[in-house]
Amino acid sequence: MALYQFDILDSTNEYMKEHREKFQDYDIVLAKNQTAGKGRRGNIWISTEGMALFTFLVKKHEGEEDIDYMKLPLLAGLAAIRAFQKIKKAEYQFKWTNDIYLQGKKLGGILVERRENNFLIGIGLNINNQIPLEIKNRAISLQELGKQEYSITEIVLEVVEQFKILWKEYTNGNWKESLTEINRINYLHGKRVALRAGNIFVEGIAQK
Ligand code: BTN
Repeated sequence: MALYQFDILDSTNEYMKEHREKFQDYDIVLAKNQTAGKGRRGNIWISTEGMALFTFLVKKHEGEEDIDYMKLPLLAGLAAIRAFQKIKKAEYQFKWTNDIYLQGKKLGGILVERRENNFLIGIGLNINNQIPLEIKNRAISLQELGKQEYSITEIVLEVVEQFKILWKEYTNGNWKESLTEINRINYLHGKRVALRAGNIFVEGIAQK
């Protein structure tokens, strides 16, 4: 696990993707800022200094099934929440499938991409950045909670460390405990949700 730090990149996901041959499992690319940060579903991830903007690599190894990798965003989210709990105790929540919430507002998001047998796990977390007034009702930054600045490097290393533990457990056949923990911190629990899967449309109150 090596940490590569940059002042500015277009996108940490893109950088790692372009240079994927040079990286090993759990290597991290961290940037202070991004000029073309990417969000899910083709959205732009507006990046500012003070955010934790990073991508780490998970390689697909022999014997592992493609379906296993569906768990990557869930375990990355859980890893981020475990890391936050170590740094500042609070009621963090995980919004299936890719978001981290605090006090009903988005604290961070996850974008997992794949190139051949390389999974790029991109994470953007609001840490020391000020949230613009226009989105203050939807987003939150860790410094608002702790009234202090945090070490981004420390948080990033802790997230990847926690992920390593969770991924090892998962590949050793232990998914149940992580799932129980994800359900315990489920942001959607009790909320009305709608889901479309191909031609199937389901509406209801989210449980687990
Ligand atoms: C989302 O909520 O839509 C996911 C956002 C993921 C943003 C992070 S920032 C670091 C990494 N590099 C990117 O270009 N995107 C991810």
